[in-house]
Amino acid sequence: MSRHRKLETERLVLRPLEESDAERIIEFMGEKDVTQYLLFFGYPINEDQVRQWLKNVLGAQPEHCAYWAITLRKTGKLIGVLSLTMDNYHHKTEMGYWSAKEYWGKGYMTEAAWRAIEYSFDELKLHRVELTHMVANKGSQRVAEKLGYQVEGCWREGHHKDGSYKDVKIYGMLRVDYERAKRKRQIQTN
Ligand SMILES: CC(C)(COP(=O)(O)OP(=O)(O)OC[C@H]1O[C@@H](n2cnc3c(N)ncnc32)[C@H](O)[C@@H]1OP(=O)(O)O)[C@@H](O)C(=O)NCCC(=O)NCCS
Repeated sequence: MSRHRKLETERLVLRPLEESDAERIIEFMGEKDVTQYLLFFGYPINEDQVRQWLKNVLGAQPEHCAYWAITLRKTGKLIGVLSLTMDNYHHKTEMGYWSAKEYWGKGYMTEAAWRAIEYSFDELKLHRVELTHMVANKGSQRVAEKLGYQVEGCWREGHHKDGSYKDVKIYGMLRVDYERAKRKRQIQTN
């Protein structure tokens, strides 16, 4: 079971994914804009592939990964998914995320991802959190910047998607970067 604990923020509850989430995930992944930069899902979405992916996720061990449904605190509606893929030997994890288009641009992913970063450093005691995105994915780039990830380079044509190779921007956040980002957030909220 890929069970990590529920995480909460001001507007969101990140709870472990459940089998019954399949239909809602298939619904919002039906939009091309949602899948165009995702590695394991294409357009049009293959519903069986999503169900199989969810089955694999629910069967995975928590030491290998964490998958949360990002839900709205007020209504419980599932608006996205956030994942951490663990590399226990090196005490690090790789973050992944995607959300329903009607909820973009409201700060939800930054809010969810920051909570997962806090969890990674404060509770899992990890040394490093990593993130990659295709260079063309400006939304994800902005989220990475707002969170305080440091740019570490580029994999030239590192991902294969829709029949061509895409350049990939790579980021890392060390504990020192996390502490800096936390101080910056505290100043901004005061
Ligand atoms: C990337 C994604 C997760 C962002 O989610 P979100 O909830 O909209 O993120 P936030 O609202 O927290 O922040 C988005 C920021 O990106 C900016 N942004 C969004 N699209 C942009 C674009 N095309 N160009 C430049 N900036 C963009 C927003 O203006 C916002 O910045 P601001 O707060 O300074 O205005 C969402 O767009 C998504 O799910 N995309 C499809 C799946 C995907 O690409 N996942 C990531 C794979 S690495």
